[in-house]
Amino acid sequence: MPNQNGVLILTWKEIDELLDMKEVILSVESAFKEKGAGKVQMPPKIYLNFERYIGDLRSMPAYLETADIAGVKIVNVHLKNKSIGLPSVMATIELIDPKNGKPLAILDGTKITSYRTGAASAVATKYLARKDSKVLGVIGAGTQSRTQVEAISKVTTLEKIYVYDIDRRASERLSEYIKEKGIASKVNIESKIQNVASEADILTTLTPSKAPILFLKWLKSGVHINAIGADAPGKQELDPEILKMGKIVVDDLEQTLHSGEINVPISKGMMNKEDIYAELGEIVVGKKIGRTSDSEITIFDSTGLAILDVAVGNLIYQKAIKYKVGTTLDLIDILIDIYS
Ligand SMILES: NC(=O)c1ccc[n+]([C@@H]2O[C@H](COP(=O)([O-])OP(=O)(O)OC[C@H]3O[C@@H](n4cnc5c(N)ncnc54)[C@H](O)[C@@H]3O)[C@@H](O)[C@H]2O)c1
Repeated sequence: MPNQNGVLILTWKEIDELLDMKEVILSVESAFKEKGAGKVQMPPKIYLNFERYIGDLRSMPAYLETADIAGVKIVNVHLKNKSIGLPSVMATIELIDPKNGKPLAILDGTKITSYRTGAASAVATKYLARKDSKVLGVIGAGTQSRTQVEAISKVTTLEKIYVYDIDRRASERLSEYIKEKGIASKVNIESKIQNVASEADILTTLTPSKAPILFLKWLKSGVHINAIGADAPGKQELDPEILKMGKIVVDDLEQTLHSGEINVPISKGMMNKEDIYAELGEIVVGKKIGRTSDSEITIFDSTGLAILDVAVGNLIYQKAIKYKVGTTLDLIDILIDIYS
């Protein structure tokens, strides 16, 4: 029998069964609220670069005071992984009890990463998109795209979704998924980004691009953009003209300056810190207002926050205890023997 000091191990499959997008959105919204109230600790993520493998490793620690939970996520981005049957992004999350530092759980973080990334877009869409938004445009139809469409559909009624990916098969897979799940009744696969951009009330960009692929002249007045793909130095999806015209809301100022959508224009001196309107948490907590007119362009610049991983990891950990899911391992038995 595992002792009460055991560490709960939760696999991808077990977590998949416990994840519920509506619950994840609430958990992510409340993490943004805690951040807006200044009740989190979250140093910017740190990177190791494996240039010869076109990949990296990121370490992301966080503490949420109100929820009283801490943890760290380790995550990679390896863009060639699909050719060897692995996802580009894989992660593990370790949850720690802040009272004594004891490891509580080790969770696969791969699915949690895409759920919390989708949920962050949903929260940004809720606070920033026009209330009458009906058409979603998705640019990049890889792993993240499924949880993006699912999450955004929970905060807005989507009549139609336009999809573009350089790989048409990826667009087709996303289109089938949207129809299967009943996320929107109409899906159009497009062969040009401008066809998606010119129809969308809400746009979500999800590519690993290192040069602008979305341009101001294609956009509808009052569009909201979730800029998700640029999450490391040198990555960029939006033409800086869009950023100059739009209201920029970031997930975390320090992290975004270094690795968000704005990192390239900032490093080239085309923009500065003052061009950023707010952190999303400041809007969620009511310190700043979100959209102020139907015509303004709003941009959510997302780099992915450790507080979201820890908050959603804790949500799943609590559910796993309740439903007796997972395997408890006596990882720290020896220490307990010494000190008991
Ligand atoms: N902000 C965050 O919190 C966060 C979280 C996870 C992933 N990401 C980033 O989001 C991006 C997508 O992640 P993923 O897991 O879905 O990757 P993925 O490899 O599964 O999918 C990427 C998709 O983009 C397509 N693509 C590449 N270049 C394109 C272009 N120029 N135009 C249109 N489509 C293009 C590819 O064909 C592929 O289908 C990556 O850059 C990743 O680092 C950000």
